[in-house]
Amino acid sequence: MKRSEINQIIRDGEDFFRQNSFYLPEWASWDWDIWQRKDKEEIHEILHQELGWDITDFGLGDFRKKGLLLFTVRNGATAEAGYEKPYCEKIMIVDDGQVCLQHFHWDKVEDIINRGGGTLLLQFYNATAEEDLDRENPVIVYVDGIKRLLPAGGILALNPGQSVTLPQKLYHSFWGEGKVLVGEVSKINDDHTDNRFYEAIPRFPEIEEDEPITYPLTKDTIRLR
Ligand SMILES: [Fe+2]
Repeated sequence: MKRSEINQIIRDGEDFFRQNSFYLPEWASWDWDIWQRKDKEEIHEILHQELGWDITDFGLGDFRKKGLLLFTVRNGATAEAGYEKPYCEKIMIVDDGQVCLQHFHWDKVEDIINRGGGTLLLQFYNATAEEDLDRENPVIVYVDGIKRLLPAGGILALNPGQSVTLPQKLYHSFWGEGKVLVGEVSKINDDHTDNRFYEAIPRFPEIEEDEPITYPLTKDTIRLR
């Protein structure tokens, strides 16, 4: 992705968060110069837990159709890392028809929440033992604690306020009908080891630096560790 495109997506994202009265931590709007000047020990948790802006087009070059804007608000680690925080929260934006592609998590259990805007659509498949899509057996999910049985590949619609719990190894993809503010509350998140995308696609895009960074992505801030 070009840096100019990423900068623009972040500006649009800030507008949408504001419209929906979702307020971000102060470091969401630190510019790259501020990040570089900061005492790295003081912001150790932010750098090591990879908090902040995260934009991906899954390396496919068509963000508007296949992409996701995420902002990791908080993310834990095990006691050995010194944080002892067993949970994660993200806020995301999916646009009308913009798809976050089929994937599951080996470890993470997550609630995906429609926090406002349009309707959030999610498609589910169980994973087979070979980690393929199980196109036969029905899927069980819980929508705000209410058990729902869907056919393989079934689509669930969530209106603002509704959420669904996604267990480990349940394939899921999602997109907006209209632009949607999407919340995620989960176990600790590790995007480097815990995502199994159905198609072999990269989680983080390569970036072409065609203009200066305004707000860095986590892919940038990890270089400050
Ligand atoms: Fe997921």
